Amino acid sequence: MQIPHFEALQPVCPVCKTANGQLHPLVIAQVAKQEGPHIVEAVLHCTNAACKREYPVIDGVPLIISDIRRYLSENAFQIALRDDLSEVMESILGDCIGPGAIFDIVRQHLSSYAWDHYGDLDPMEDPIDPEPGAMTRVLHTALDSIADDPEGPLIDLGCSVGRSSFDLADRCGQMVLGVDLNFPMLRMASQLLRTGIVRYPRRRVGVVYDRREFSAEMPSAKMVDFWACDALALPFADGSFAGAVSMNMLDCVASPVDFLVALARSLCERAFAIVACPYDWSNAATPMEHWLGGHSQRGPDDGASDSVLRHLLDPSSVHAIDGLHLLHEMEVDWQVRVHARSTMSYKSHLVIAGT
Ligand SMILES: C[S@@+](CC[C@H](N)C(=O)[O-])C[C@H]1O[C@@H](n2cnc3c(N)ncnc32)[C@H](O)[C@@H]1O
Ligand SMILES: [Zn+2]
Repeated sequence: MQIPHFEALQPVCPVCKTANGQLHPLVIAQVAKQEGPHIVEAVLHCTNAACKREYPVIDGVPLIISDIRRYLSENAFQIALRDDLSEVMESILGDCIGPGAIFDIVRQHLSSYAWDHYGDLDPMEDPIDPEPGAMTRVLHTALDSIADDPEGPLIDLGCSVGRSSFDLADRCGQMVLGVDLNFPMLRMASQLLRTGIVRYPRRRVGVVYDRREFSAEMPSAKMVDFWACDALALPFADGSFAGAVSMNMLDCVASPVDFLVALARSLCERAFAIVACPYDWSNAATPMEHWLGGHSQRGPDDGASDSVLRHLLDPSSVHAIDGLHLLHEMEVDWQVRVHARSTMSYKSHLVIAGT
């Protein structure tokens, strides 16, 4: 956690914010480990005497999440998981623990997202003609269609391993906060921020992974930070951000409408929102009754998802999300690498909205 980000963004306690609508700022109460401007381990306190919640900063990532006890108990393995093992030791663990276990799921997530976000910077991938990954390509396409430069901090919702946050800061010259709930991905992003090194297991086949480690100095590193926050319960005053990006996460949240409402509330006037989504609905992430389309094909939109999002961003619609309207939209190709012989292909609906 970068001290300038904490001071500029003034996070508030997410528990007190939802309980009574009041804002109670957090303070840095105890620092156990610091590296220059980066707080690596610390405790943040809620300043409300009736609450006094504690939020830890672990491996450089502050966890500012309402139900912090539940998050820590559900993610205890991911948080306590060592990331300093040699490649050979990691592979022995991978063989013994086997496929489908949390250990393997963590490696698979890191493999797919780190390859897409940073593969173009890896000298071993394609040193002659490095192609940017799908996320970088789509983000730049979206930013090309935004007329006015934002003035104020930007938020990258569901940032995963963080390249979109760095790209946003490079392009817009503003402070950027990447938020996600996946701790191993945030830890990787935070490590890159502090060390300039990308380090991840790239899946080859089955539970066989090759360690990738290379230098990737990000020119905008001072302007970027990564926090663990729930995009549906952001710990900030309304109107804190001049722009928001959410790449492929609308279909990963429990309630896409609540997510869009929270996104709109976080934005100030004349802000932008970039939302990309392949509408790859699953009951595990989003209960079917909360999907945008994807069911009820006898209804007015024949079950289409893109038209439901269009209605939500149309101020004249009865279902309109307050304060957010559609500016541009397009279809974009998106690939997710599964392993060396498998890549999933998506068509993502890219929407640029304004406040
Ligand atoms: C499909 S991934 C997309 C990652 C990245 N934006 C990209 O396009 O490469 C969705 C991300 O959203 C995150 N996510 C899901 N629900 C979230 C929530 N409620 N708050 C914050 N992040 C969330 C997941 O952990 C995951 O990293
Ligand atoms: Zn509180």
